[in-house]
Amino acid sequence: MNGHKPLVILGAGGHAKVLLALVQSVGFEVLGVCDPALADQGIEEWRGISVLGGDNALEALDPRSIELVNGLGQLVGGTGRRSIFQRLKQQGFRFPVLVHPTAWVDQSAILHEGVQIMAGAVIQADVVIGANSIINTRAGIDHDCRLGEDVHVAPGATLCGGVQVEGRAFIGSGATVIQGLKVGMEAVVGAGATLSRNLEARHVLLGPSGRKKEAPKED
Ligand SMILES: CC(C)(COP(=O)(O)OP(=O)(O)OC[C@H]1O[C@@H](n2cnc3c(N)ncnc32)[C@H](O)[C@@H]1OP(=O)(O)O)[C@@H](O)C(=O)NCCC(=O)NCCS
Repeated sequence: MNGHKPLVILGAGGHAKVLLALVQSVGFEVLGVCDPALADQGIEEWRGISVLGGDNALEALDPRSIELVNGLGQLVGGTGRRSIFQRLKQQGFRFPVLVHPTAWVDQSAILHEGVQIMAGAVIQADVVIGANSIINTRAGIDHDCRLGEDVHVAPGATLCGGVQVEGRAFIGSGATVIQGLKVGMEAVVGAGATLSRNLEARHVLLGPSGRKKEAPKED
């Protein structure tokens, strides 16, 4: 992945710090981070890189000379990650595809702009992943899956072969989607759940309840 333009990371939260480690591990040059909260506090350095300012710091940068890393995470129902991606793309900025060196991506897979493949993830043959999607740590996307834009497959989740996931859907940590099923637009497969039938748009499937037993009484 060498030969890319210098990168600017957007946001300085948990997802951003994992991405910083990813881009440093593959030798990208990182110009700095834009984060309004750090800038408001007058903090000039974050994890060894410069704090360039809030989002307005991008106004001083030429979209042709840098590329952006969307460091905003994607929790259920959140819109910030998607809106910053769309707004900055309209302004001419580009978001490279990022693949952690410990991930496996089959050469036939198609990853659209800004897709982020985190450590230990596996992307098998003929998979297509839409723009701005996250395939998080140790997630597995098996052959022929089709994912729309702004999808988040959380850590350790598994999509068996030929699964279709529509835009903005969220597959929770450790969830499994059985082969050939469809997850509708903005639908949520809860952490730990196994999806065995199609899930309609905006529906939520909870996982196993995992209720706590009462602790034994002390003598
Ligand atoms: C499915 C999910 C979105 C539901 O969130 P929510 O609507 O806010 O639900 P709540 O937290 O209000 O919980 C409602 C009830 O469902 C239960 N519940 C929530 N998520 C559950 C899950 N994944 N499996 C089983 N039960 C779950 C709660 O214990 C609660 O039960 P109670 O009413 O008996 O107390 C969420 O719990 C989830 O699984 N998110 C994915 C988290 C994840 O993967 N994060 C990765 C970040 S990188």
